[in-house]
Amino acid sequence: MPQTVKILDKSFKVLIHRDKISKAVKSIAKNITSDLKNSNPLFLIVLNGAFIFAADLLKEISFPCEISFIKVSSYKGTQQAKEISQLIGMNESVVNRTVVVVEDIVDSGNTIEKIYKELKSKKAKDIKIACALFKPDAYKKNYSINYTGIKIENDFVVGYGLDYLEQGRNLKDIYVLKK
Ligand code: IMP
Ligand code: MG
Repeated sequence: MPQTVKILDKSFKVLIHRDKISKAVKSIAKNITSDLKNSNPLFLIVLNGAFIFAADLLKEISFPCEISFIKVSSYKGTQQAKEISQLIGMNESVVNRTVVVVEDIVDSGNTIEKIYKELKSKKAKDIKIACALFKPDAYKKNYSINYTGIKIENDFVVGYGLDYLEQGRNLKDIYVLKK
């Protein structure tokens, strides 16, 4: 595993090793299983970033559930865009259902808020949020993050699904921007 990687104009160094990520994902799956095994939840995967986390997480889930995908885009490079763009793909009926939103990372919380409000307006019964990574110091909302993998500092990271200008999503470990 390389200790540093160069992506476009920036250098990143290893922050979280794949083994630690894997342990965190298994622990989330265990907690979700004990809470939701009898509720036939709908897992809503937030693309693109959550694709690797979601695949790893859902391989650890063995109770009945549905899986679907939505897309929101709130980031341009390392700078957060002011406006969150539209939510695409919320096609399933969520009326009276338990929905687990699966995110790569919760940063400001804008994305989660957008999805949460949409699910509420569509009459979901119970909304849970699961994320691989959480930046507590950047989080500005009050929605509880029910299942958090690993908490990190307010720094820019790539790998394990997360990108820098659409690059780096395929890295197995998580890397942080070198300052
Ligand atoms: P939020 O809406 O500010 O919570 O940001 C959520 C989205 O921004 C995530 O789903 C990511 O796609 C992206 N994002 C936030 N922090 C990072 C980061 O450190 N690296 C890459 N993408 C990030
Ligand atoms: Mg994302």
